Amino acid sequence: MAPKITVIGTGYLGATHAAAMAELGFDVLGLDVVPEKVESLSHGKVPMYEPGLEELLRKHVAGIEGSSGRLRFTTSFEEAGEFGDVHFICVNTPQKHGEYACDMSYVESAFTSLAPQLRRPALVVGKSTVPVGSAARLAELLVELAPAGSDVELAWNPEFLREGFAVEDTLHPDRIVVGVAGERAEKVLREVYATPIGEGTPFVVADYPTAELVKTAANSFLATKISFINAMAEVCEAADGDVAKLAEAIGHDDRIGKKFLRAGVGFGGGCLPKDIRAFMARAGELGVDQALTFLREVDSINMRRRSHMVELARESVGGSFLGQRVAVLGATFKPDSDDVRDSPALNVAGQIHLQGGQVTVYDPKGMDNARRLYPTLAYAPTALDACRGAHVVLHLTEWREFRELDPAELGDVVAAQRILDGRNALDAGTWRAAGWTYRAMGRPRA
Ligand code: UDX
Repeated sequence: MAPKITVIGTGYLGATHAAAMAELGFDVLGLDVVPEKVESLSHGKVPMYEPGLEELLRKHVAGIEGSSGRLRFTTSFEEAGEFGDVHFICVNTPQKHGEYACDMSYVESAFTSLAPQLRRPALVVGKSTVPVGSAARLAELLVELAPAGSDVELAWNPEFLREGFAVEDTLHPDRIVVGVAGERAEKVLREVYATPIGEGTPFVVADYPTAELVKTAANSFLATKISFINAMAEVCEAADGDVAKLAEAIGHDDRIGKKFLRAGVGFGGGCLPKDIRAFMARAGELGVDQALTFLREVDSINMRRRSHMVELARESVGGSFLGQRVAVLGATFKPDSDDVRDSPALNVAGQIHLQGGQVTVYDPKGMDNARRLYPTLAYAPTALDACRGAHVVLHLTEWREFRELDPAELGDVVAAQRILDGRNALDAGTWRAAGWTYRAMGRPRA
């Protein structure tokens, strides 16, 4: 019989994983400690913007007309313990306040709440991004706290999904990585990930520490690639070179590849920034901090992008923001998401506001979250409204909507036709032809 699955934690990762598992034909119980989330998911409503997720959820949530009924949600660990054969832990591991290390409290609490409810053989599968060494410790904790003792096994199965592509990445992953301490766990996970997710997908079996490290290493590599091209953008800007052309040219080399070479205001979000910091903190604990000092540089190149954008904006309005209106297009850390965590766009908007500029922000999906995080900024209901009377327009998140803006229409409402493209994503020629002074990061002025 197919194993029954629980998913503990229903954020981006958990909600998507639960819906994907139901799509594959499993009976799934999703658990969250926040009753409002459970309530909303039980009605087929996703509490964040993630393309395709709500549709997938509604296809399976019990009680929704025409659904498979294979997916339910609860707040009860007791119910989860009784229901599940395989328990996926998908809770968040944010950065600790004021420290580099990651906050393991949600993971700890998921394990200590679930374990006492495990009365029969079960597999617990960690998917959260954790410091290397956590799995071995949590495996011991499980055996100690679970009534079923050593019949409860642990596997670590990192997740590589990108926000905005969460459904696609979950149903069609590049690879499946499992860290196990025994053959039984591997067998169960091979069964869970059998067709269609696993069909033709590389299945990498490793020990716990390697599986944990795969995730942090992958994110560190991606962050490094972005900071590399942003460092080249700094040099290009000083030497009058064009970083976009440079990225295209080096990307033709398969060993380098084209992806993740978009220069601009840098990376943000709930993963890359905190993962590289947590990795450095953990390396320090392991006595190998020197191995990762380059990540400190990756982080500072990235943060410098934000202040550089502020400088470019200040320079464009004559050296001071006082009395100047600044339109900010974009609030989320990337398009097709409503996530504003560590968003370069909002950070730039906040810095300009602090320096006396009158900032108005517009974002297609991130307005509510942005308002909560930066309540002192002004917000406009459309891009056009945000640009009204602006002395400079900053394009900071590359939503399709912004690429489709009509420069002539915008030109009629601004106070000065100046645009800074922080994502190298707008068509310079079109904006310049409409009379704008268009400038992008790391590219020649005209
Ligand atoms: C990332 C990883 O890609 C994913 O595998 C992991 O599971 C979680 O972290 P995500 O945070 O959703 O996913 O976003 P991603 O698409 O990686 O982008 C991260 C940031 O880098 C964004 O702010 C994006 O704008 C920026 N970025 C990306 C660049 O500045 N340039 C690029 O070339 C690519």
